[in-house]
Order: sequence, then C-alpha cells, then structure tokens
Amino acid sequence: MCGIVGYVGQRDVVSVLLKGLTNLEYRGYDSAGIALQDSGDIKVYKSLGKLINLKNELEQRRAEIKQPIAGIGHIRWATHGSPSLVNAHPHSCTCGKLVVVHNGIIENYKELREELSKKGCEFRSQTDTETIAHLVADEYSKTKNLELAVRNSVKKLQGAYAVCVMHKDVPNLIIGARKHAPMLVGVGEGENFIASDTPAIIEYTKRTIYLEDNEIAVVTKDTVKVTDIEGNVVTKKVETLPWEPMALSKLGYKHFMLKEIHEQPDVIRNVLNGKLYDIDEPIALNEVKLDSEILKKLNKIEIIACGTSLHAALVGKYIIEDFAGISVEVEASSEYIYRKTTTDASTLVIGVSQSGETADTITAIKQAKAKGSHVLIITNRPDSNMARLADSLIPVNAGIEVSVAATKSYIAQVISFYLLAMHLAEIKGSIDKSYLKNLKHELIQLPTKIEEVLSNTTTIQECARKFSSYKNFIYIARGVNLASAFEGALKLKEISYINATGYAAGELKHGPIAMLDETMPVLSILIPGGITYEKVLSNSEEAKARNAKLIALTSSNDKNIDVLFDVVLRIPQVSEILSPAITCVPLQLLAYYIAEFLGKDVDQPRNLAKSVTVE
Ligand code: F6R
Repeated sequence: MCGIVGYVGQRDVVSVLLKGLTNLEYRGYDSAGIALQDSGDIKVYKSLGKLINLKNELEQRRAEIKQPIAGIGHIRWATHGSPSLVNAHPHSCTCGKLVVVHNGIIENYKELREELSKKGCEFRSQTDTETIAHLVADEYSKTKNLELAVRNSVKKLQGAYAVCVMHKDVPNLIIGARKHAPMLVGVGEGENFIASDTPAIIEYTKRTIYLEDNEIAVVTKDTVKVTDIEGNVVTKKVETLPWEPMALSKLGYKHFMLKEIHEQPDVIRNVLNGKLYDIDEPIALNEVKLDSEILKKLNKIEIIACGTSLHAALVGKYIIEDFAGISVEVEASSEYIYRKTTTDASTLVIGVSQSGETADTITAIKQAKAKGSHVLIITNRPDSNMARLADSLIPVNAGIEVSVAATKSYIAQVISFYLLAMHLAEIKGSIDKSYLKNLKHELIQLPTKIEEVLSNTTTIQECARKFSSYKNFIYIARGVNLASAFEGALKLKEISYINATGYAAGELKHGPIAMLDETMPVLSILIPGGITYEKVLSNSEEAKARNAKLIALTSSNDKNIDVLFDVVLRIPQVSEILSPAITCVPLQLLAYYIAEFLGKDVDQPRNLAKSVTVE
C-alpha cells in the first residue's frame, strides 16, 4: 500500500527519491509522484502506473529541474478517488507553495473540505489527502510557522496518517507526522531521510528513528527534532536496521517470489536457530513472557490474522490443540473487530502478521489488550507497529519479503507455531517425550528435504504448463493440511488471477462436487502414515468419476497414485503433522510457474498491496 520517502541533503534528490520509491514498489501502487524543492521553488511531477512512467516524465522535463535541495515522493494505492494524475500525490495548497504526501485515510475529510472550501481553498482532486495540504496552508497563513501549522492541523485530523510536508518559504525542511500509520526518520551525515518503511532508506543509512503515534519530526539536512503533538521535545533512540541492501536484490532470480521460495531452507534454519538445537533439550522460547504456572493452566488461545498469515494460524491451531491440548480459535482480524468476542484476561491472544502493519490485525490486537489479554505477536517485522504493541514477541526472521505474495514469511510463521506448540506441550507435559524427540529431529531435517524439492522442479514446471489454461481449480486436503490447501489456492489466485478454492476434502460431496467436470482440475494433498490419507484418496476418486483432471501432491510412493492421478508432484517422506511446512513449497512453485507461464506480473499482482494499512 502507499509509500513515502523524503530527503534533504547533498545527494541528487531525484535519484534518492526514485530509489526509495523503487524499494517500496513491492507494496503495490497505481500512481506515483515527487515534489522537488530548489532554492526558489517547489515543482511537482506525477505519473500514472509504474515508476518507469515517472522516470520518463522527469527525463522529458529534465531541463526545468534545477538543483533540488529537498524532496518528497509517494506511491499511491487508491482509496479515495480513482487512480488518476489529479489524485496522485503530492498534493498542493491553492497557491502551490505547500505540498504534502500522505499514507492512511482521513475520516473527517469531507467536513474539513467543506470548511476550507468556504474559506476559498480550491480543491482539484477527490482525495482526502488534499484536505491536509489546504489545512496546513491555512494554519501557516495564521502563524507563519510551519512546525506549529502542522501541529495545529494534525490535531484536527481524524483517522490514520503518515504525512510529509514541505513549504516553498521554508526551504531545506521536511516535516513528518504520524498516527496509526508507520513513519521513520533515516539519520545520515549532513543529510536526513524520512520514510514510511525501511527499504526506502536502506541504501543510504541503517540508522533510524521510529516515530510513535502523535509525534512530529522536523527534519533538516543537519538536524532531526521530534516533538509530541503539543510541541514538547521527545528524546528518541537511534536504532540500527538489521537489513542489508542485498535483501532488495533478486540475486539472479527472475522474480523476488522465486528467490524468496528458494530462501526457505535457510529461513527455517534461522527460525530454529537458538530455539531448537538439540532434540534432548526443551525448546528455548524465552520470547513468551508468560509465567510457566500461567501457561500450565492456559486453556484458551485466540489467533487473529489475515490472508496467508491466517493460514499459518490454522496450522498453529491444529498443532497447539494436538500437542498441548489447549483450545484454539482462529479468526480473520476483519471479523474479530466487529463482534462481541469472549476474549478475556485469561485468554492468550496471538496476532500473526508478516508486515506487522495490517490495519485490521492492529485494531484486533488493541481490542484484545483492552480486555486484559496477554498479546503474543508473531511477525517478520520486529520494527513494526504490531511488534510495539506486543506483550510477547516472536520475530520470525525470514528477512525482508519483497514479493507481494507471501512465501518465506509463511513458512517462518508455520515453523514458529511448531516451536510454540512444542514449548507449550513441554510446559504442560502433554506430549509423549519420545514422540516429541522424533518430531524435533524431523524439524531439524526439514530444510534439507525442502532443498530436495527445490533442486528438481521439472515436474512442477510441466504441470504448470499443462494446467495453465484452466480457469478454475479446486484444492482438497484434510486435517493439518487443510490450511495448505487454502494457502496453495490463495497463491494461485493472487498471482495468476485463476479462480482456485481450497476445500476440506470431506466437504466436496456437500456441494462443490456439483462443479466438477473435465474443466475443473482437482489438486489433492495426500500424506501417508496419518489418518486422512485414505480418505483424501477416496475423495479424489470421487472427483475422477466426475471427469475432473487430478493432480496429487504426495510423499507416497504408491504406484496406484500414478495410475489414478494425471500428474503426481512428489515430496520427500515426512510425518503428516509436520507436512504443512513442506507441502506449501511445491504449491508456491506451481502457482509461480503458472503465473510466470501466463506472463503475469508475479511480484506485483494487480490490485494487491504488500502491507494493507487501511481497513
Ligand atoms: C498473500 C498475502 C496476504 C497477506 C495479508 C496479511 O500472499 O501476502 O494475504 O498475508 O494481507 O498481511 P500480513 O501478514 O502482513 O498481516
């Protein structure tokens, strides 16, 4: 979703802004723009679509760009008003001297717009953001103090904002403010940056100051001052980013998604590192800050998440109930926040999120905290808003994920749930010790097994080619792999735009079977050794009897499978309970190769954003 970058300093401002926006591109956007300030003027450049269009626009108008000393840039994902040039940011006040870029949604923008229009402000766009430009300009006309004008203005805003402001009459200065949307300052030598997320600045500095809600940063090339909304100076810690700029390179892979799929064995090793090092030792999950006496008595967990993280949560539910015997509810954050829940102080609430910035999950977490629950956050971004709300925090350490479709963060979340479930089971004494030892051993072996899958993708690629022209798919599984079916189908949908739905295999007969014919392939997840294998096999036979083409994803060597199924995707032997940590990989690859074969924009699928920071 939208991204912001601002820069003040000696470097080529255009290049810094374009690089910053390029590094935020993965978040998804429909238009882009920058405002450049030179010693005498502020000029705005915008374009629709990808950043290349903005680069071309800047190239064509290069002659009019003098020596900018500061600038702000934005990529927009439309919320208020269609994706269009006029709605793209930056937005200006009536006289054009003041410019703003904004992430978030201003809820009271209609009232403010009416008031400001009456005062003579000329609105040009349909956005809520333009209101901020006029509002700050109006305040500035009264005080002639830009910092005060921003403070007075943000007090009037309702909703969410990360906003950056520049004014022609106050050169060499950018002011940033935030509430319910992330914003940080990148600290340099004789230069400073401001951004909505770290990738925007990582090429230039790793030193960052994270703004909290209602804080305002006043940034020049040599100084950074942070105040609260009343103007009191706040002393902030300068933190060092854990990422390397390398993380933003494809390293020879055609797409970030493919690179991130291939990183998964190392991601698992990272997650296990320091937590599971010896099968005879208990899981070391010191991140869970609840007393073991409380954990022993714990009998209710609620997990809230969205999208792919919700699927990891479903795996989590299955294994926590299986290993630790604790009742677990899983709910989409967007549903949780609009109903009367039974969450109370004795409930452990787990929030799962790759970005740590998903608006619905943040709201859900706040609601749970208000009810007195201990909140455990499992996230890939320990620097995120959600992480800061956590009572306990499990960072999943997957490294920055650029492709919009989540892959390595999913596997890291799933592995984190295995560790958590084992940890809870050890505290409660609810699991057979030798069984647990075997599971730990298998978990340590998983990266090697996934490397085996990744080292030979020929069958998956052939399958992708064979099935890429189908318009609909059904994925079936039972038990712990039901989440894998949901996740596999989601991956296919989001990057290839093919309709795919995951069903509990036993539900097929209760409706979906009516859709089956030769145009509807069915992909079955079959892991032998467990209780569901035979069942999924017979559900697949029922599909075959309706002429559906069949794809198996299995660790079985049974020759009958080769007879029944049109294509068999084989994975190494794995126990059923741990299998979601490996079945996800060929499903990601299948989705990837189908989308790639169809020529889709794999890393930035249409209409999607990497981080959904609005409800
Ligand atoms: C799918 C995908 C989304 C996210 C969802 C939640 O590949 O990436 O479904 O999983 O938007 O995002 P996070 O995990 O950042 O809260």
